[in-house]
Amino acid sequence: MRAVAVIGAGQMGTGIAQTVAQHGMQVLLADVDRARAEAGKANIDKALGKLVGRGKMEIAEAEALLGRISPVSDYTPMTDAELIIEAATEREEIKKAIFEAAGKQLASGAIMASNTSSIPITRMGNYAPDPARFIGLHFFNPVPVMGLIEVIPGLATAQETTDRITAFARSLGKEVVLSQDEPGFVVNRILLPMINEAIFVLGQSTANIEDIDKGCRLGLNHPMGPLELADFVGLDTCFEIIKVLYATTGDSKYRPAPLLVKYVEAGWLGRKTGRGFYDYSGDAPVPTR
Ligand code: 3HC
Repeated sequence: MRAVAVIGAGQMGTGIAQTVAQHGMQVLLADVDRARAEAGKANIDKALGKLVGRGKMEIAEAEALLGRISPVSDYTPMTDAELIIEAATEREEIKKAIFEAAGKQLASGAIMASNTSSIPITRMGNYAPDPARFIGLHFFNPVPVMGLIEVIPGLATAQETTDRITAFARSLGKEVVLSQDEPGFVVNRILLPMINEAIFVLGQSTANIEDIDKGCRLGLNHPMGPLELADFVGLDTCFEIIKVLYATTGDSKYRPAPLLVKYVEAGWLGRKTGRGFYDYSGDAPVPTR
């Protein structure tokens, strides 16, 4: 692909933009307005600065990569893109509005993909101009580091779309897992019940935050415990995903942990708000319970 558009300049969208640009493609980066798109590019600049500072990337490479990312004010320039990737907030009404508006700029033959964590692809395909050219393309955070992408065709997705998107994902140096369009796909279907259960364990005072995370880091060899990972993903995103699993299956094993609901209601959403299960205001994260 020559040019790819990314809609959403948050944690996931900037990670996707950085990775795509790193692999030589031009990237159009959009958000609700030009200022947010510019702020997303500035965050990528910061991440690249750290890599250069640690000797992981040449300054010339970082500059060239950044030069391939163009923040845009609206979706008009996306007629040039062969692929539009939506990576906005995990709320269906927001994504629907994006697919309808950006769909007007989708070139004939271009593909529209969603980085949704859990919303059904088949249903969202109806919001796009052509469900045969609509697909799920699920990245993992931090995108430049994680080696996996899930590819999720909906019922109406054409085989050619799946093949092109799989080839695109591999061109980013990632491994691909193909998932049917079932709630949570493969990885989040397994991950979110674990995170939710860890929050139940905390809510029942079986152990404190530090010990729950230590238990999974040392006992399971996970790089992060489930509560630090929840903070990293964002508690609002965790809540949205577990709600989708619960609503679409009706299975009580997916009911959100009451403490997760409380934290989201308090606006304690994890790293991005400076507080979740840990407090991030100091030099090192401190458990809050
Ligand atoms: N660009 C490029 N490289 C980056 C980077 C970036 N933006 N940020 C970090 N890196 C590189 C670093 O240079 C470093 O490289 P090295 O190993 O060659 O030195 C490597 O990534 C590790 O970074 P750090 O040393 O800063 O940090 P840690 O060693 O503590 O690892 C972590 C951080 C990779 C986040 C690790 O803790 C981890 O793997 N955690 C689990 C992450 C996870 O599970 N993600 C999936 C979440 S679920 C999801 O995303 C799905 C969604 O739908 C919910």
